[in-house]
Amino acid sequence: FSPALIDSFQRRHDYLRISLTEKCNLRCFYCMPSEGVDLSPKSHILTDDEVIRLAELFVKSGVRKIRLTGGEPTVRKGIVDLIGRLNELRKYGLQSIGMTSNGIALHRRIPQLVENGLTHLNLSLDTLDPFKFEIMTRRPGHDAVLRSLRVALESPGLHSVKLNVVVIKDLNDYEVPEFVEMTKDNNLSVRFIEFMPFTGNKWQQTKMVPSSELLDRISSRHPELFKAADELNDTARSYKIPGYAGSFGFISSMSDHFCGSCNRLRLTADGQIKVCLFDNKEVSLRDRIRQGTSDSELLEVIGQAVRGKAEKHGGMKDLDDLKEGPNRPMILIGGFS
Ligand code: GTP
Ligand code: 5AD
Ligand code: SF4
Repeated sequence: FSPALIDSFQRRHDYLRISLTEKCNLRCFYCMPSEGVDLSPKSHILTDDEVIRLAELFVKSGVRKIRLTGGEPTVRKGIVDLIGRLNELRKYGLQSIGMTSNGIALHRRIPQLVENGLTHLNLSLDTLDPFKFEIMTRRPGHDAVLRSLRVALESPGLHSVKLNVVVIKDLNDYEVPEFVEMTKDNNLSVRFIEFMPFTGNKWQQTKMVPSSELLDRISSRHPELFKAADELNDTARSYKIPGYAGSFGFISSMSDHFCGSCNRLRLTADGQIKVCLFDNKEVSLRDRIRQGTSDSELLEVIGQAVRGKAEKHGGMKDLDDLKEGPNRPMILIGGFS
């Protein structure tokens, strides 16, 4: 494991999230400001060769897990082939290739993606009500997402299928029990995510439902629920109901941060390394590559960024600082890239 990927708090970063595009075919209000975002010129976006070069360097340095994000990763042309090329990095130790997608343009592509090496799929779906879907995402497409979910659950090649539900008070929080019931017959992991503040997303404390409150609500219906094992470095705390095929969990970024066990690094679509979701100090690897920098020099630049990683939440004193920014809107970090 290269020391370049170990920070000053001894956290080992073996998980790389690569944003493949800033574009998205939805406009989720918590992710994109209503006025939209200024996209980087195409020439600023990493090419496939650049993505592979950096991914290879990270994998050779110790990264074991890659997750592709966006924007919406399926919007990027050539995604199926790109996954095939990433899959070749298994020979250097890569163990899993995941993708976080909104599922709008996914269902037909799932078989090819899985064949080319995709192993883990996280789908974003905040509501089971098609009308509410249009309110939250400002676009139609609810049935397409459900279709993707069905195809994913039937794909034997996928090791895990997770559903991400961002919970907003008085908008979709009453649907939580219905999402829990989806885990009865499906080997699905539903994660309820606390609404987080980003530039332009009109976050308010009163719109956030703490995970503890949701757990209380679920346990009043299902007192028999029990704590399930979490994977190391998992962002979610998981639970199960006896006899149910799947599980549900909570990603409590606001009420109970998990920075101490963070193992993630991010690469933005325009080629910056971002050591924390909330950190604004980005360093351009793209510029270095285009200047002809060698792998060992690149690794030095990466090491310097990693060593500068703050203990928690990008070094902000207080969670209230998060909503003041400045930080890129979610879509430009890669929808939690
Ligand atoms: P796996 O653990 O690989 O399945 O994925 P994930 O849960 O890390 O990623 P996903 O893209 O599905 O993101 C789901 C949610 O995790 C996001 O909405 C965020 O709330 C949260 N999340 C992901 N990465 C981070 C991070 O680095 N910091 C914080 N605070 N939250 C994160
Ligand atoms: N708060 C919490 N989760 C968010 N996501 C995007 N923006 C936010 C936010 N402000 C989630 C999406 C997607 C994942 C990648 O990040 O719903 O599931
Ligand atoms: Fe919604 Fe994800 Fe697109 Fe953001 S990137 S608008 S969260 S689908």
